[in-house]
Amino acid sequence: MRIFKNTLCTLLFAIVAVSFVQAQTTTASRPVLDVPYVPTRQVVVDAMLELAKVSKNDVLYDLGCGDGRIVITAAKKHGATGTGVDIDPERIKEANENARKANVTGKVNFVEGNLFDMDFSKASVVTLYLLPDINLKLRPQLLEQLKPGTRIVSHAFEMGDWKPEQTVNVDGATIYLWTVPQKK
Ligand SMILES: C[S@@+](CC[C@H](N)C(=O)[O-])C[C@H]1O[C@@H](n2cnc3c(N)ncnc32)[C@H](O)[C@@H]1O
Repeated sequence: MRIFKNTLCTLLFAIVAVSFVQAQTTTASRPVLDVPYVPTRQVVVDAMLELAKVSKNDVLYDLGCGDGRIVITAAKKHGATGTGVDIDPERIKEANENARKANVTGKVNFVEGNLFDMDFSKASVVTLYLLPDINLKLRPQLLEQLKPGTRIVSHAFEMGDWKPEQTVNVDGATIYLWTVPQKK
């Protein structure tokens, strides 16, 4: 009987320990964000798409897409197709729900992943709302992958010594436009 009790106790302890480790692993496996989630206000989203002159011929990529609002607005108001990339699965879930509500699921898709591991060479427009150091780290990848003529619009942050060709103030926010130059 004592052996049975000891075995049962050991088994119970093992179950509790495994559950604890699993809980820790779940917490620990939350993605590490290079940039916290702060959505762009709709008035600024609209201005970013205007600045890039987004049309139905465009393929827009939002790198760190949050709830998908830039990609979804580009599809809904300008007829563009688009892809949003975000490292946080919660954001990708929200973005897919929002695309469904906006009836644009045929025009957009959302990909969970690290933007530094992505290929966005299909883009004709790239939108960013990241941080100054992340923009700088991303710059070589943008210049390497994107076709000449691709427009890049960034909310709030510049790209080091690559000077923007336009800077616009919108309702207290600043947005910047660059065009990818011909390769040397
Ligand atoms: C400031 S929010 C911008 C959201 C959206 N682009 C907008 O303007 O409304 C930055 C987003 O980048 C995502 N993010 C942070 N680090 C990332 C990484 N390394 N790869 C992909 N997404 C990332 C965050 O989860 C967050 O949703």
